[in-house]
Amino acid sequence: MTSFGRQFGLNAATYDAVRPRYPDALFDKITAVIPAGGSVLELGAGTGIATRELLRRGLRVTAVEPDEAMARELLAKGTGELEVVICDFEHYEGLRRSFDAVISAQAWHWFAGASALREVKRLLRHGGIFAAWWNIGSITDERRSAALAEVFEETSQRLPILFRRPDLSATIGDLARLLQGDLGFYRVAPLEFTSTVSYTPGRFVALMSTMSEVLTLSTNDREKVVERLQETLGAEVIEVSYLTVGFMAFRS
Ligand SMILES: C[S@@+](CC[C@H](N)C(=O)[O-])C[C@H]1O[C@@H](n2cnc3c(N)ncnc32)[C@H](O)[C@@H]1O
Repeated sequence: MTSFGRQFGLNAATYDAVRPRYPDALFDKITAVIPAGGSVLELGAGTGIATRELLRRGLRVTAVEPDEAMARELLAKGTGELEVVICDFEHYEGLRRSFDAVISAQAWHWFAGASALREVKRLLRHGGIFAAWWNIGSITDERRSAALAEVFEETSQRLPILFRRPDLSATIGDLARLLQGDLGFYRVAPLEFTSTVSYTPGRFVALMSTMSEVLTLSTNDREKVVERLQETLGAEVIEVSYLTVGFMAFRS
């Protein structure tokens, strides 16, 4: 069994094709406070879903990603001033770097903690920004959501995030307090956006196949989940509403 947090590369191309994107308004908000052509350190960049948006806006990105298969997708699809460092954040040295921004999309929870925050501060220039965010999805039709959740309860015991609707306000509040406390960040502002995505049954099954709760199953159980999801979904499109939540903060 592959460990949680380090298994996304088992399905990197599918991950890149089906994982939800992040709203343009979010990139507009963070790029408004980064100088034109500025430098960004992205932590847990994956296949580059957020990276490509930053590059498209003319920023120079150093992307830290430990999973080689994810990093290969990132390199293949990223165009512009992109540097990819294949290592985990805990081992990233970036000794003399002073970035205009450090960002993390859907990844901060894999390496979170006070020491990671201190490291972010060290890597940022004065006045630089730190931003982290997550997509929290939920199936709009509650009956269909309950039926699909049952598939996971039967087979895998662990429910993907889509069925757990986690409330990240406490996590984000704790991070904001840490940043504004000893770390001396200022103007900590929430990021919050909503969007809706419709998935064909095939695309929804592909999305589920990129979730850590599915990737860490045995091949047998994974096949069972996929088969049961297909039966339960039938032929109808399924709608997911996403809340993109996070924060951005300025380094003193
Ligand atoms: C859910 S994915 C998010 C990927 C991408 N940022 C996105 O928005 O799609 C989490 C990523 O964090 C990476 N990751 C896990 N542990 C990490 C660590 N210790 N340091 C840096 N990245 C890590 C994983 O390999 C994975 O690519």
